Amino acid sequence: MSDTRPRLLLTQRQTLPVMQRIEQSFNISGVPEHKLTTRELLEGARAFQPQAILTSTGLPLRHDDVAQLPDCVKIVATVSVGTDHLDIAALHARGIIVTNTPDVLTDCNADMAMLLMLAAARRAGEYTTLMRQGWGRGLAMDEMLGTRISGKRLGIVGMGRIGRAVAKRARGFDMRVMYSNRRRLPADQEEGATYFSTVTDMLPHCDILSLHLPASPETDGMINADLLGRLPKGAIFINAARGALVDEDALIAALKSGQLAAAGLDVYRNEPNPDPRFLELPNVFLTPHVGSATTETRSDMGMLALDNVEAVLDGRAALTPVSS
Ligand code: 8YV
Repeated sequence: MSDTRPRLLLTQRQTLPVMQRIEQSFNISGVPEHKLTTRELLEGARAFQPQAILTSTGLPLRHDDVAQLPDCVKIVATVSVGTDHLDIAALHARGIIVTNTPDVLTDCNADMAMLLMLAAARRAGEYTTLMRQGWGRGLAMDEMLGTRISGKRLGIVGMGRIGRAVAKRARGFDMRVMYSNRRRLPADQEEGATYFSTVTDMLPHCDILSLHLPASPETDGMINADLLGRLPKGAIFINAARGALVDEDALIAALKSGQLAAAGLDVYRNEPNPDPRFLELPNVFLTPHVGSATTETRSDMGMLALDNVEAVLDGRAALTPVSS
């Protein structure tokens, strides 16, 4: 008997509850052993003729790729809040609905920013290395000292859902929160944070700078040598948003010169092969793009993506559509 369930192309394995739902409700061609490449996705789509594609970040679908998708594809559901890997306009031009997974990952992404902030400021990477080497001698009172977080001035670039969740956590650490954003927030969302209409104006006041805005052609490389030079010497830089926001040559130079005391990075321009110069810098705390990587959040993201797929294939409106 033929399988009449909707055909879903899976580009990477999902959490157990999400996989169980997929296997129950969809016809899939298989569970990929590794995250597919764009070429594999396109070949798979051609061979399997899916109505829906479940994808995520790091799997680009640019203009020419979108042109190669078969006509049967009705929805591309990305299991991510970011959509910079997708050519939304090209997908829409082909009548394909695009959905993402906002909100459900806000808390975990904000937690990751705090983890990076604490780890960078308190030299967690260097301490771990020392411990793995056996420790072996007492430290002097002035040795391997970090930076106190409490009371510091935190500058948040991009005060959307995640930026506001970081601000909430930072207030718990008695930090003074500043932000720059296209629009000033209403007072109930600002909650005492100081608004700057430009990043440039905010930077001289920041002990710590944290990015929380999407990548786009306009924001590509926005954190450059000029902006890093406007931070007070010895500032700390945090990025749990997108690597493309940063000129990494300038970041590495600032970390080497002491203009930045430290950085905490979850994202890189070239993922999953970040610039190897980062690995040589002891004052950088590095994680492999895992801001949303908790069992709970990855399941919530997968479930929301599947809710979107089912809604669209049933002829209902998507829950979280992405507009061009
Ligand atoms: C990734 C993210 O989706 O949601 C986003 O935009 O960057 C992350 O949550 C996740 O790391 C899978 O690549």
